[in-house]
Amino acid sequence: MSLTATYLLPNGMKIPKVGFGTWQSKDGEEAYQAVKTALETGYRHIDTAAIYGNEESVGRAIKDSGIDRADLFVTTKLWDTALTTEDAAVEINESLNKLGLDYVDLYLIHWPNPISSRPHFAQRNERVWRAMEQAVRAGKIRAIGTSNFHARHLEPLLEVAEIKPVVNQIMINPTDQQEEIVAFNQAHNIFTEAYSPLGTGKILSIPELQDIAASYKKSVAQVVLRWSLQKGYLPLPKSVTPARIKENADLFDFELDENDIKTIDGFHGIAGLARNPDENSH
Ligand SMILES: NC(=O)c1ccc[n+]([C@@H]2O[C@H](COP(=O)([O-])OP(=O)(O)OC[C@H]3O[C@@H](n4cnc5c(N)ncnc54)[C@H](OP(=O)(O)O)[C@@H]3O)[C@@H](O)[C@H]2O)c1
Repeated sequence: MSLTATYLLPNGMKIPKVGFGTWQSKDGEEAYQAVKTALETGYRHIDTAAIYGNEESVGRAIKDSGIDRADLFVTTKLWDTALTTEDAAVEINESLNKLGLDYVDLYLIHWPNPISSRPHFAQRNERVWRAMEQAVRAGKIRAIGTSNFHARHLEPLLEVAEIKPVVNQIMINPTDQQEEIVAFNQAHNIFTEAYSPLGTGKILSIPELQDIAASYKKSVAQVVLRWSLQKGYLPLPKSVTPARIKENADLFDFELDENDIKTIDGFHGIAGLARNPDENSH
């Protein structure tokens, strides 16, 4: 297995098993160099979002890589300020322009319940979904999905969606596996992506993990990402540090044994839990 190994999405598309995260990678040189290094290292799946403010740099790195577009999987996301079908159509076009791409592989509603649409989140999500469906039909997006959605947000969307969501991207790492959402996704043929696989860095200081990592002669980050893959998740590690970008890709020459997987499963809550999307927004 390698960085080009893929999972199958419910609509038949292939998606590389490890994605490269770009949240908090600053627009300009930082995001550009990070994505450039990731692509040179062999990552073929890049995760960005309109709100990250770095789509132009991400797009420039993709273009300069010279990699065949068909060999890349690019995801971006619709931000909370888009409340209507028209808003979403404009935002989709803006993201494509910034990325310099004719299409993205995956486009997600970033947050299910923006403060400005409460308590009418279901209507808002239906409205923006219509623009996403139109963009699929127009060839601007290959697959559509959601992020941070719980069952209560997905249920009304599934009732009205003409094109079903194929991905729900949620926070998953050893300290919060969000099992209820994963089970709902599975029951509804929605693929789960695991964001913040390193707990935005907080996982790395758990002492027991350092012991496990030492026993495999691997880093804690590699052990946690390997755990994610062995659980069948799709981790999206982020780094702007070249050595870490490479380290986080070097996951395919070892296997965690079942006891260690169980130990890692037991770290629930140690490094924080996912936020409730009905109570928080960015
Ligand atoms: N849909 C959503 O709402 C949502 C929310 C959060 C994240 N995401 C996606 O998921 C991606 C990853 O999540 P995340 O950004 O929260 O963080 P993460 O990947 O869990 O952790 C990134 C942090 O860990 C550090 N790090 C990375 N590799 C390391 C290594 N090998 N050794 C030591 N430290 C290491 C990074 O530092 P340096 O960068 O300084 O190297 C950074 O501070 C995001 O970038 C984004 O694409 C989506």
